[in-house]
Amino acid sequence: MTKHLIDISDLTLKEIRQILLLAKKIKNNPLKFKNLLENKYLGMIFSEQSARTRLSFDIGMKKLGGNTIEINQEAIGLGSRESDSDIMNTLSQYIDCLVIRNINHKKIKLLAGINALPIINGLTDYSHPCQILSDTFTIEENIGEIQNKTICWIGDINNVLRSLVEASKILGFCLKIASPEQILKKHKSFIRNISSKRINFFDDPVKAASKGDCIMTDVWVSMGDKKSNNKKKLFKNFQVNDKLMDYAKSKAIFMHCLPANRGQEVTDSVIDGKKSVVWNQTLNRMYVQQSILQYLINT
Ligand code: CP
Ligand code: NVA
Repeated sequence: MTKHLIDISDLTLKEIRQILLLAKKIKNNPLKFKNLLENKYLGMIFSEQSARTRLSFDIGMKKLGGNTIEINQEAIGLGSRESDSDIMNTLSQYIDCLVIRNINHKKIKLLAGINALPIINGLTDYSHPCQILSDTFTIEENIGEIQNKTICWIGDINNVLRSLVEASKILGFCLKIASPEQILKKHKSFIRNISSKRINFFDDPVKAASKGDCIMTDVWVSMGDKKSNNKKKLFKNFQVNDKLMDYAKSKAIFMHCLPANRGQEVTDSVIDGKKSVVWNQTLNRMYVQQSILQYLINT
């Protein structure tokens, strides 16, 4: 059966643990794995901008002895020149796996449903599974096993958060989410359907950050959102600054998937401060994605 990674909820706890374990082994001894994906090809379709996801997949695949090819969606006529099924079956004759960054989550699910080759979600308007698998790795590397830790999300209800919610349900960590009342109202059906005692919502960032082990944030306007200045106003009290960090545990870490809007969701002093692990977080994308590639291509 063709495996895909579209959402964290596609994975079992055992599979997540297997991916994180191999990522650790690769990080500890990269040369041992230099031929792991020899003669394998990863195709990459980025319909939206990306620095970290694009480069960490590209370099990560090559460091495992594999090859990559960036495919221009328009150049191959995806969605316009022939049926989705014919183009996916065509790609599968040449490449072993395909990572797609595309606003439209439904479209990526539809392409995966063709089952022609393994497909990885490299960020949609709905979720960012690679980011959160890798962030789990970074959290465990910095503060130990994630289960029973309290992760605090200060910000929008967006693609990255949805993957974090799915991870919380599987891995069993507590998640405190702070977002403005208007945003909570807008997403009330999503919130109602979560039904996990470990996941709680607040309209007060201080309550969410209190005694947290990890404070996480992201941009206020995400991929696929309509640009809105109103959001800046709505989120003005939800900035992660030194004062807010002080409510978390003294050994708490700060995380941001990047790119950041410095001075909006986070201050320079926090993102560049001692508690920030953002560069470690950026680096770890590569090891976890190398492990995801092995899981999808070779097992
Ligand atoms: N965090 C992340 O996915 O970064 P890019 O958008 O640069 O890929
Ligand atoms: N939520 C952000 C994540 C970027 C990696 C966005 O969608 O723009």
